Amino acid sequence: MTPVEPPWALLAELTHGCPLHCAYCSNPLELVRRSGELDTGSWCRVMCQAGELGVVQTHISGGEPLLRPDLPQIVAAADTAGIHTQLVTSGIGLDAARLGALVDAGLRSVQLSVQHADPQASDRIAGRRRSFADKARAAAVVREAGLPLGLNVVLHRDNLDVLDAIVGLGLDWGADRIELANTQFYGWALLNRKQLLPSRSQLTRARESVEAWKTRLAGRTELVWVVPDYFDGTAKPCMGGWGAVSLTVAPDGTALPCPAAAAMPGLDPPNVRERSLEWIWRESPAFNAYRGTGWMADPCRSCERRDIDFGGCRCQAYALTGDAARPDPACHLAPDHPLLRGIVSESALGAPSPAVPRSFRTAAGRGDRV
Ligand code: SF4
Ligand code: FES
Repeated sequence: MTPVEPPWALLAELTHGCPLHCAYCSNPLELVRRSGELDTGSWCRVMCQAGELGVVQTHISGGEPLLRPDLPQIVAAADTAGIHTQLVTSGIGLDAARLGALVDAGLRSVQLSVQHADPQASDRIAGRRRSFADKARAAAVVREAGLPLGLNVVLHRDNLDVLDAIVGLGLDWGADRIELANTQFYGWALLNRKQLLPSRSQLTRARESVEAWKTRLAGRTELVWVVPDYFDGTAKPCMGGWGAVSLTVAPDGTALPCPAAAAMPGLDPPNVRERSLEWIWRESPAFNAYRGTGWMADPCRSCERRDIDFGGCRCQAYALTGDAARPDPACHLAPDHPLLRGIVSESALGAPSPAVPRSFRTAAGRGDRV
């Protein structure tokens, strides 16, 4: 058996609490209540164990991690463990004093989300008034502190047509990196797929625009295009492979090979309250379930791309077929690919109803499979 390499990254989801209500959120529908969150000591222990395990970088995320008053202590624990910390934030609540405390604790970079280049449209998509103004202020505070700033924009039907303006906004705000992330359909985004799926022509125009920007910005600002795999006919190498490069710890301590795996019944994920990260990463059945290529069936098993895309995304295979071990329907060779083609052509007909905003209130009683 090939030895298990240490993970490179830890996604630490400190809380599912969030001041925004984006319908494209990839958090699970069953959000962890604030009362169920790990306490400060437990998060500090997770960071210490992550450092010992070999984790190099942690993305401190949520929900909105700024809702945790103990954020500086958790950042400091990661820094002491030798882990590079990046704050993934909506920017709501990030002022100079708060950022100063985080920088003192060891914070190294910030990834800020924005929903649209137009303030009103951004507020509407985020479900919060004046959130765009808060984000603009947060970007300025990060630049003043001299921290690297990444801008993350989730792309969908409502903002793909203004991609040029979005890149322009990122440049105005002084972003070093602009991530243009086509919506990945998990959690709330899966629930709202009909409302979010763009048309093929929107994507074609956006892709051309990104290529032009990449040429123009080469060597200055990094531009990342996260592929819309529903449309491409190829499976993405999701998470760099299951249990291969990163792990997620959810707000209640559930440890997952990827954030969306919370929705997979039968996975029986371990919890950091009961097990060490070392055991979780190397020994737990959940992390070994789809590791490597031994679990694959045909056509993946005999495919020359199996070590490149790892058979695609397990969560997507489960969400679309009910079986996480099937080839990802995003792949044109997968037996279930026609299913995806059907979903994409249906999206051309438009959405029958408004999107469901992400919130604790609207979560009750909804399943993750659509
Ligand atoms: Fe990837 Fe499987 Fe498709 Fe081959 S058949 S390209 S391994 S998803
Ligand atoms: Fe879970 Fe792709 S999102 S494996």
